[in-house]
Amino acid sequence: MLDGLASRSSTYDVQSPDRIAYGFDATAELTAFAADADSALVVSDENIVGAGVTDPVVAALEDAGASVDFFTDVKPEPKLSMVEDAADVLRDGGHDVVVGVGGGSVLDTAKLSSALAEHDVPITDTLGMGNVPGAGRPLALVPTTAGTGSEVTHIGVFSDSEGVKRVVYDAALFADLAVVDPELTRSLPKPVAAATGLDALTHAVESYVSTLRTPYSDILAREAIRMIGSNLRGAVLQGGNNDEARYQMSLAATVAGQAFVNSGLGAVHALTYPLGSEYGVGHGRANAMLLPHVMEYNVPAETERFADVADLLGADAEGSTLDRAYASVDAVFELTEDVGIPTSIGHLGDLDEAELESFTDIAFEYSQHNIDRNPRDLDRDDVVQIYRNAL
Ligand SMILES: [Fe+2]
Repeated sequence: MLDGLASRSSTYDVQSPDRIAYGFDATAELTAFAADADSALVVSDENIVGAGVTDPVVAALEDAGASVDFFTDVKPEPKLSMVEDAADVLRDGGHDVVVGVGGGSVLDTAKLSSALAEHDVPITDTLGMGNVPGAGRPLALVPTTAGTGSEVTHIGVFSDSEGVKRVVYDAALFADLAVVDPELTRSLPKPVAAATGLDALTHAVESYVSTLRTPYSDILAREAIRMIGSNLRGAVLQGGNNDEARYQMSLAATVAGQAFVNSGLGAVHALTYPLGSEYGVGHGRANAMLLPHVMEYNVPAETERFADVADLLGADAEGSTLDRAYASVDAVFELTEDVGIPTSIGHLGDLDEAELESFTDIAFEYSQHNIDRNPRDLDRDDVVQIYRNAL
């Protein structure tokens, strides 16, 4: 599906952080990053710090001669108030650089707090697209999961005081340095490795069929799908004993992040919204539960591309293009089940028709932009039917 590019008349833009360092012990690159810094603030959470995952980060910063302070009060689905607190610590402490070390919630908090510390505006003024006043303190992002791709995006996802999801997109939020070090995922708990890895697969698949995909995002998305299909089982089921699989997953998650930041996502990221807001299901796990169901709905609109997905996932598919396309759905069901994540939502609670209607309201209200990028049009009845199929 990469042929015929010359016939396309559009000019495409590629968005990326300034620099990406990846590989085992890439964390040592933080020494050069902090060479001129007297002090650094590490934004993380207590579990990550408690497990010692930030130790090599601190060592690299201290090798640069920087003193290191911590802000660890980041929780999943971070509140805007946590970002404000982190920005206050940065402003009061006068830290020269900010280093986010964690999953997507931590990295998003590090991004926006770095900008807020430099620009004294109310955080609510930064919400939405292009409203951050300018670049923040020098920022390095160090993922400790192989999943969200947040280290290479300019997106932050937060919740307000009423629990409503609020998103910030701004080129000023791109990191100066992303450090992708598979050593940091060595002790990742299996359910987290599975959920975040399937979030990365969702990014790659949604990017590959997005209405805003580009020739460049296609290349990234295809390779990420192939790498995840070959390595997610090993990274989850063998974890710390399978360096090769974790390396490939770390790289694939970053590549998938670069794919979707240049193409947008799709209906999975919209339909999972109420699973998080109403039932507290984590982002990656929710995506994993709905991905195959949304793919099944989308197959008729992008048959050749879903046949590609089946090939990239190593499905032994035969028959017509349509048959091979549906084999991609089966392959994702199998992969998700193999890594221990349910492929249905019925266990979450009493999901009667009224509840599914309410989910649909929420998906359209808060995630219309993702629905708009889905390759097959969706109306309310379509969304309710996908939820029904997933029960
Ligand atoms: Fe995601």
